[in-house]
Amino acid sequence: MAKQRTFIMAKPDAVQRNLIGEIMQRFERKGFHLIGAKLMNVPRELAEEHYAEHKEKPFFGELVDFITSGAVFAMVWEGENVIATARNMMGKTNPAEAAPGTIRGDFGISMGMNIIHGSDAPETAEREIALWFKEDELHEYEKTINKWI
Ligand code: TYD
Ligand code: MG
Repeated sequence: MAKQRTFIMAKPDAVQRNLIGEIMQRFERKGFHLIGAKLMNVPRELAEEHYAEHKEKPFFGELVDFITSGAVFAMVWEGENVIATARNMMGKTNPAEAAPGTIRGDFGISMGMNIIHGSDAPETAEREIALWFKEDELHEYEKTINKWI
């Protein structure tokens, strides 16, 4: 399996509950590399574009309201099979159904406030990374310090 990149976002509920570090630690410990990250308030147009696939759904308005209600922490993670693995680490969309041990299973409260977003397929990851990050905000790196450390 080749190296992939995925877009991960700690939603406003995660930021306000001080869960950014918890989320990042899970991805770091799993062996993935952080190559981009920023704390930001989301313009309404960006939220609508990000969730465009849900435009006709009854929950679309509330979803966009929630994502624009407070700062989010947007990230790009890189690693082998990271797209599907991140989805597994997140757990099911509805935190009530998400297994214990998953991020949503451990911290999520409701379908709306479900802590985290992660791209669901390679095409989606490519689209979302380009939507949220400029090329010069992504930083690939090799280990340049003593490799014994
Ligand atoms: P979706 O893409 O189906 O889930 P996921 O985030 O796991 O990819 O939905 C996007 C978000 O929309 C989801 O994280 C929470 C919200 N949502 C609702 O509020 N109500 C719903 O019935 C669904 C399906 C999603
Ligand atoms: Mg989705």
